[in-house]
Amino acid sequence: MRVLGIETSCDETGVAVYDSDRGLLAHGLYSQIEIHAEYGGVVPELASRDHVRKLLPMIRQVLADADCVAADITGVAYTAGPGLVGALMVGGSVGRSLAYAWGVPALGVHHMEGHLLAPMLEENPPGFPFVALLVSGGHTMLVRVDGIGEYEILGESLDDAAGEAFDKAAKMLDLDYPGGPQIALLAEQGDASRFRFPRPMTDRPGLDFSFSGLKTYTLNTVAKHKDDAVLPDEQTMADIACAFQDAVVDTLVIKCRRAIEQTGLSTLVIAGGVSANVVLRQRLETALAKKNAQVYYARNEFCTDNGAMIAYAGCQRLLHGQHDDLKILAQPRWPMDTLPALG
Ligand code: KG4
Ligand code: ZN
Repeated sequence: MRVLGIETSCDETGVAVYDSDRGLLAHGLYSQIEIHAEYGGVVPELASRDHVRKLLPMIRQVLADADCVAADITGVAYTAGPGLVGALMVGGSVGRSLAYAWGVPALGVHHMEGHLLAPMLEENPPGFPFVALLVSGGHTMLVRVDGIGEYEILGESLDDAAGEAFDKAAKMLDLDYPGGPQIALLAEQGDASRFRFPRPMTDRPGLDFSFSGLKTYTLNTVAKHKDDAVLPDEQTMADIACAFQDAVVDTLVIKCRRAIEQTGLSTLVIAGGVSANVVLRQRLETALAKKNAQVYYARNEFCTDNGAMIAYAGCQRLLHGQHDDLKILAQPRWPMDTLPALG
């Protein structure tokens, strides 16, 4: 089976061709970061319009890179949610229409399932069952994964997602959007002993998260070191970035360790944009090695939004005969534990 995958749920246009025998044949990614940067976050209408501009030329290019013509494609997978409805509609309309024109099945893929399965694109993929920490701009979840579509949500964020917290803290420090990579970079210059930020919800049992208190704590710390409206000096900014990152990472590590203890499993998969964070990866590896558990993640470009993860996830379901009818699916909200198992 050879699947064209399309991702347009937010501010990245991603396209890929995945072959069930030969693996990933080609992929392309266009990030809209420059368009949204001046607004400090994603502007939904601008995102939709740019997907309209970029998607068809990208599909042509990726098919050429994969050395394919339309007749070689035997299925189309597009992100059907969760995400921005206008942006989802672009990928859904194009994906569903191409599948109709080509006479092949189409499938709307769950964006977070795409993230969850992205490490399967690597050379040494994790095996089921495992615990997954999904940390993106919109979601923070711990999930027990017994197979594709066999998901038990163990815990999730009660307010902001981890990536969202990174983005908001970055804004407080006047860093560019998206803030995660910027905070990580600035934190490298920080003195970890200067500030200690709270580790929210780690002193009580359970696997849920909350990052809004940490956000307020960061805002108050920045305000305390501001001179009138002038931002703190560079070293203080780096120290704050470092303390913030340490607090988020520690919180995630504590909950992952707890999830591994609770489930008795020995594999942890981390996925979503924040899984590109080097400090998070290192601390998880160290903490879980003590529990004889192993940590898996995708290469950086497949941690953040991309078309390859959608082509891969779609291909697995299409191979098992799952596909949609002629409807164009766009579900801004879509609980992951309602997905069907492969069966
Ligand atoms: O998965 P993703 O590309 O999009 C969503 O599905 O939301 O995740 C984007 C998020 C952003 O909030 C971004 O700041 C964060 O991932 N991120 C990072 C890093 N790289 C991306 N956060 C912390 N450290 C990073 N290195
Ligand atoms: Zn994502």
